[in-house]
This record gives sequence, structure tokens and C-alpha cells, in this order.
Amino acid sequence: MSKKPRLLVTRHMPDNVTARINRDYDATLNPEDRIMGTEDLVRAAEGMDALLICGSERITPDLLSALPDSVRMIATYSVGYEHIDVAAAKAHGLTLSNTPKVLDDAVAEVAMLCLLGAARRAHEGQTLVRTGKWSSWTSTMLLGKQVSGARLGILGMGGIGQTIADAARGFGMDIHYHNRTRLTADEERGAHYHASAADLFAVSDFLSISCPSTNETRGMVNADLIAAMPDGAVIVNTARGDIISDDDLIAALQAGKLSAAGLDVFANEPKLDPRYRELENVFLMPHLGSATVETRDAMGFCCLDNLDAFFQGKPCPTPL
Ligand code: 8YV
Repeated sequence: MSKKPRLLVTRHMPDNVTARINRDYDATLNPEDRIMGTEDLVRAAEGMDALLICGSERITPDLLSALPDSVRMIATYSVGYEHIDVAAAKAHGLTLSNTPKVLDDAVAEVAMLCLLGAARRAHEGQTLVRTGKWSSWTSTMLLGKQVSGARLGILGMGGIGQTIADAARGFGMDIHYHNRTRLTADEERGAHYHASAADLFAVSDFLSISCPSTNETRGMVNADLIAAMPDGAVIVNTARGDIISDDDLIAALQAGKLSAAGLDVFANEPKLDPRYRELENVFLMPHLGSATVETRDAMGFCCLDNLDAFFQGKPCPTPL
């Protein structure tokens, strides 16, 4: 039997994923789950055939020029790949893969959790109960914003955006979207397309962000787009924190232009802008979009399917 490929797994993985890694690879694992900087990563990659990385490892031109030549493939345990300089990695002859589709359902669930949590003031309600300050029922206590019948704008209508749309239809929402390319009528399922983000924001009682972080989208949700929204609108973000200008979102939440926000992702995670913690009208989650047992296993298996294909000389199922 031929030798197993040598694989560096940069972060701790779920047990089912680790079992398959150990079965099929000569693996170096990181059970302590320490985050590796460039130097650590380069050192650990010595003699490896491939790397299985996460969003915590940045594949930059500097790292690539120091990376041992033995490394021929990098699989990222994420759908997002803004932490990888894809052009530079390809110029180094590396094969790359990510994990699309397998996390659409899990992320859409958290998008709905953030949407409902923000709309129905879940943070304030939880606090009232947990602090023992809930004294009686009143007809005006913690009134929220009704979701059914409202318009949901989706910025970025890939797999995750379309899954959020399906879930939101179940809550009786009217779906609007903006995307680089318009979907087919079949994919739209009655959703209204807007050719510009400004047009989408203008009709969004709720706005959910599900586009990747790119040079075009970084900082795009700013004061101008927020000003175009209906008063009292709600913003939800399960994509990447840096798509939003924190200063502009916080100002709109403080001023009451937006009634609430539901955020699972932040710029500079986990060191989010501390002002978010002070806002009662924000529902906060620590980047848990894909965090279910089933999905984290599926993400690992997707990485391994790609690595297996590469080492068997076959095309990767989900290459970058
Ligand atoms: C992960 C994600 O939790 O897949 C992505 O792009 O943001 C999350 O599902 C994380 O990036 C894992 O590396």
C-alpha cells in the first residue's frame, strides 16, 4: 500500500472528522487548538503534503514564499476564503478548496435566530427574566417589530441567501434581493430582484447580509445605505463583520434610525467594537453560524473529500 499523505491540521477538529483524518492521512494535529502565526505555521508545515486550515490562518504572499515546497494543497474548513490570497496561492502552484453548500442550512438557521432575536427583543427579554426584574405582564412590555408580512432584503443571494429566503418565506416575509447576477425565475421563487444595493435597502424592513467579504463589499453597509432604509428597520449579519461600517451601524442604532440589529459576525473577531455590548437593541452571537454537530462534521468531510480527490489525481469537488 502506498504511503499516506502527510497532512497538517491547523486547528482541533470534531471527533468524527479527526477519526477520518487519522484513518486516511499521516496527520499532525493540534489538540490544544492553539492559533498559529505565520512562523509557527511555516515550521509546522515542514515535510507536509497538504494543509487543512481554518479562517484563523491567513495565507498571505509572505507565508506562501516561506511555505515548504512539499505542500501542494490547502483545504480550508470554511466557505469564506478572504483569509487566503487565492491568486498568490495559485501562482505558487497550490490546489485550494473550501466548503460551500454544506453549511447553508446551519447559517440560515442562525440568520433567522438573529432576525427574530433582534425583532422580538430577545436580549432584553432574557435579561428581564434572568435578573429577576420581570414583575408583571403589561400590554406594552418589550413590544417588538412584526416579522410576518414584512419585507426582507437579502444582500448576496448565493446558497446561504437562498436558504435564508426559504426560511423567511415560512415566516410570511416578502423576499427582495440584490446579487451580482440575477437568479433564474426558478431560483427566485417570487423574490424581487434589485439591480443596486441602494434600491434593495430602500425597501428592506429587515436586511440580511449573506455576501462574501471582498474589496467591493468591505465597508459597503454604511451611513448612506442605512439612511435609505425605512425608519425602524433591522439589520442582520451572518456573513462577515467588515462588510458593515461599525461606526455607521452603531450611530443608526443609537439614534433609533434602526430599531435593532442581529449580529453573528464582527470586524476583528473576537475583539468586537465594545460599543455593541452597551446597546440593548442588538442581539449578539459569537460567530456560531455553522456551529452544529452535523454541519461541522460535514465541513470536515468536505475538506477531506477534496484532499482525497487531489491525492487520487482526481478533480476536487469544491475547488477555489
Ligand atoms: C466557520 C465561516 O465557523 O465557513 C465560514 O466561512 O465563517 C464559519 O462557518 C469558520 O470560518 C471556520 O473556519
